[in-house]
Amino acid sequence: MVDICDGHEGAAVNDGEGTRAGEAQGRRFGPLGTALVIIPTYNEAENIKVIVGRVREAVPEAHVLVADDNSPDGTGKLADELAAADDQVHVLHRKGKEGLGAAYLAGFRWGMERDYGVLIEMDADGSHQPEELPRLLTALKGADLVLGSRWVPGGRVVNWPKSREFISRGGSLYSRIALDLPLRDITGGYRAFRAETLRGLGLDDVASQGYCFQVDLARRAIKAGYHVVEVPITFVERELGDSKMSRDILVEALWRVTTWGVGERVGKLMGGRHGDAPKP
Ligand code: GDD
Ligand code: MN
Repeated sequence: MVDICDGHEGAAVNDGEGTRAGEAQGRRFGPLGTALVIIPTYNEAENIKVIVGRVREAVPEAHVLVADDNSPDGTGKLADELAAADDQVHVLHRKGKEGLGAAYLAGFRWGMERDYGVLIEMDADGSHQPEELPRLLTALKGADLVLGSRWVPGGRVVNWPKSREFISRGGSLYSRIALDLPLRDITGGYRAFRAETLRGLGLDDVASQGYCFQVDLARRAIKAGYHVVEVPITFVERELGDSKMSRDILVEALWRVTTWGVGERVGKLMGGRHGDAPKP
């Protein structure tokens, strides 16, 4: 397995103030190892070939894993065709739609069993531009986890309705306050994890199914003291296919974030320093 190449332009990095950046500065981060870009799919037949092609071109060293939930539109079969033609493309077929969180957990497990050093989350619909991935990987050389962020200076969204921007900004703000997290984009889904970081998050008890999975992992990383860095990205709304965002996903996010926030505050009141911190 080859290492991620050097020499991309430096990432504009915005350190969260509470991420133990001071400790991290004195720390040496190991080499990254091979990256696996995990792309969860449910009915992305119109997008899958384009996104895989863009990833392969933007970061030729990286491998791709499509985690498909038995999409009725045949996305899994198209992914199989891509995998048959390219040794660096793989497919994880899952039995049915179980949510973004479950698909990523299965993808992480698949990648860690095969010794990938970096596990990347990326949507299939082009919202997360593969051409920005080298900047995320550059930032990961000095971090445990990199979040592609729409809501730091330099980050932005293109073609999102105001209503959706309001929900996303509101979700991040609510999570930031309820969970006391020093991050701007807590719900985003364009991320690069070191494998060691994922191992330290205690993924076995993650119950989040929908998009609150992203909040859950960010929260675990901060509480565990990892060095988390936000890198500005341009999020481009999909042109083809439909968003899977739903009322149920929003409701799950709201109640889980509220429950975690209350739990942590009660934990602190009872004398625990970090509430239900998942890692020593
Ligand atoms: N395997 C699988 N199973 N994939 C899923 C499922 C599922 O149940 N639900 C969604 N996906 C896949 C989609 O096919 C797509 O590749 C990706 O997850 C994101 O889904 P979208 O439906 O395009 O998400 P979005 O554009 O509404 O939401 C974006 O913003 C959220 C909030 O900031 C994404 O970037 C999310 O990751 C992010 O949490
Ligand atoms: Mn999308």
